[in-house]
Amino acid sequence: MSDKYGTVLLFYTGIVVLVLLMASGIERYQNRALTVNQDASENQSVSGNLDTEERSDKEASGDQTEEGQSDQQIQTNKRVDTQLDVHTPRIALTFDDGPSYYTEDLLDGLQERGVLASFFLVGENIEGKEAIVLRMYDEGHLIGNHTYDHVQLTSLSTEAVCEQIRKTQKAIYDVTGYNTVYVRPPYGLWQEELEYYVTMIPVLWDIDPEDWTTSYVDGIVKKVVSSARDGGIILMHDNYESSVEAALRIVDELQSQGYCFVTVDELLDD
Ligand code: NI
Repeated sequence: MSDKYGTVLLFYTGIVVLVLLMASGIERYQNRALTVNQDASENQSVSGNLDTEERSDKEASGDQTEEGQSDQQIQTNKRVDTQLDVHTPRIALTFDDGPSYYTEDLLDGLQERGVLASFFLVGENIEGKEAIVLRMYDEGHLIGNHTYDHVQLTSLSTEAVCEQIRKTQKAIYDVTGYNTVYVRPPYGLWQEELEYYVTMIPVLWDIDPEDWTTSYVDGIVKKVVSSARDGGIILMHDNYESSVEAALRIVDELQSQGYCFVTVDELLDD
C-alpha cells in the first residue's frame, strides 16, 4: 500500500514539475518576443527622433533667411528630408592663410550655423593670435599646416621644406597641444617624393572661387554654389572680409540645399 501511494505521489509530482517547466518555457519565449518587439520599436523611435531633429534644424536654418521666403523654405526642406534618407551630400569648407583679423567673425558665423571647417594656418601669422587658434581647436575645427611663411615648397631644398613644416607644426602645437597631420601646400604645389621626408597628408581642393582676387561677394557665392558637389573641398581664405561674408552665405545656401558641412579628414578617410 505504501509503495502504491509512493508511486502515485511520484507520478503527480512528475506532472506538476512538467507543467511548471512548460509554463516557464512559455514565459521565457514570451519575454524574448517582447524584447525583440521593444528593440524594434525603440529603433523606430530613434530614427523618428533623428528625422524630427533634422527637420527642426532645417527649419531653424530656414528661419534665418528672409521672412517672406520662409514658407517656401520649409517646403524645400521637407523635400530635402526625404532625400536625406538616401544619402546626405557632404562638403568641406577650407580656409587658407589665416589666422587673421577677420577669423573671429568667421568663427562666430560658423558657430551660429553649427558648421565645422578646416583651417590651414600660416605659421608666422599665429603669433599674437593664439587665442583665435585655440578657439578654432576647442570648437572642433580641423587645423592644418600651410607652411611657416607661405612659400612654394617645390622650389625649396628638402631641408628647407622640412623646416617650413616643422616650425609651423611647433607653432600650432605650442598653442593647442595638437600635432596636425594635414598640410596644404601653397599654390597646390606638392611633390609626392616630399612625403618620403615629411609624414604629412597633403590636402588639395576641387572648388576654387578665387576669392582672393575679388571683393564681390555675390560672385564668390555664385561660383561655389554652382559647382558644389557631394565630397567637394572648397578653397577660401579667411584673411579677407568679403571671403568671410561669402563663406557664411555659402553655408546658408548649401545647408538649405541639404548639404552637410564636414572637416576634410572625413572626406579623405572614405
Ligand atoms: Ni595660401
